[in-house]
Amino acid sequence: MAGIEGRVALVTGGGRGIGRAIALALARAGADVAVSARSVPEIEAVSAEVAALGRRTLFLPLDVSDRAQLAAAPAAVAARLGPVDVLVNNAGIHASAPLQRMDDETWDALVAVDLTAPVLLTRACLPSMYDRGFGRVINVSSVAGRIGLKYGCAYSSAKHGLIGFTRSLALEAARKGVTVNAICPSWTETRMLDEAVEDIARATGRSEAEARAAILRANPLGRAALPEEVADAAVFLALNGAVTGQALHVDGGEVMA
Ligand SMILES: NC(=O)c1ccc[n+]([C@@H]2O[C@H](COP(=O)([O-])OP(=O)(O)OC[C@H]3O[C@@H](n4cnc5c(N)ncnc54)[C@H](OP(=O)(O)O)[C@@H]3O)[C@@H](O)[C@H]2O)c1
Repeated sequence: MAGIEGRVALVTGGGRGIGRAIALALARAGADVAVSARSVPEIEAVSAEVAALGRRTLFLPLDVSDRAQLAAAPAAVAARLGPVDVLVNNAGIHASAPLQRMDDETWDALVAVDLTAPVLLTRACLPSMYDRGFGRVINVSSVAGRIGLKYGCAYSSAKHGLIGFTRSLALEAARKGVTVNAICPSWTETRMLDEAVEDIARATGRSEAEARAAILRANPLGRAALPEEVADAAVFLALNGAVTGQALHVDGGEVMA
């Protein structure tokens, strides 16, 4: 394995949860890290943590549903840190509803953030990766990108789409030094899980403890993954040049096919 010392990483949704853990893990592995999301205090704080690890860093306010902001992001990173070597498309939103009650706005917003944004941001970063013959694209999908999710038509469709994108681009990029992989976490201890538990408790009249137990019952480990466990997978994919087109599960054995 070649190292990623001095490589430049851009992590979307880097202000908290899985993205924060990935940003810090890449920094510990030697990368300089641009941390982006909409909540400026969060990305500023994570960027400060990256700096404390001795790496160069930048916090980049970015709404990934805004195409103009996406198109401008690679140059903003390049101007301060250098061209993006490792792109982590992690920003994501979750929504849950029976299809008949899912409104168009929910579908559009979810597909924009969870599927269209990774595609467009990757496209914007690729020319420089191809020129330099090195790139790592890491897309944070989900086990919901591999299996159906009851009441998850929008989320599961977008996450399946992200894996299709990952596999297709991996073939395109394989001879150009660029690997493209996805990570498929099961439920992970972040705000997204807390919000899903609250939604289920509200919808079913169950307590939050009961809703949480129900969510995690199907997991062989009987627990949610930790953001740091997902981040370990991202570092592996950033380091390894021979793994491409894969959907790497960090899911306690929830999906084995
Ligand atoms: N937690 C889980 O159980 C789980 C399981 C499988 C997969 N995942 C996936 O893991 C990724 C990270 O989720 P998480 O669990 O860490 O959730 P989280 O704690 O809610 O964090 C989501 C991150 O995405 C950012 N984000 C959301 N909308 C954005 C937008 N329009 N533009 C830019 N950034 C945006 C958020 O920042 P701002 O709101 O400040 O913009 C935040 O930094 C997501 O892709 C999610 O689908 C999560």
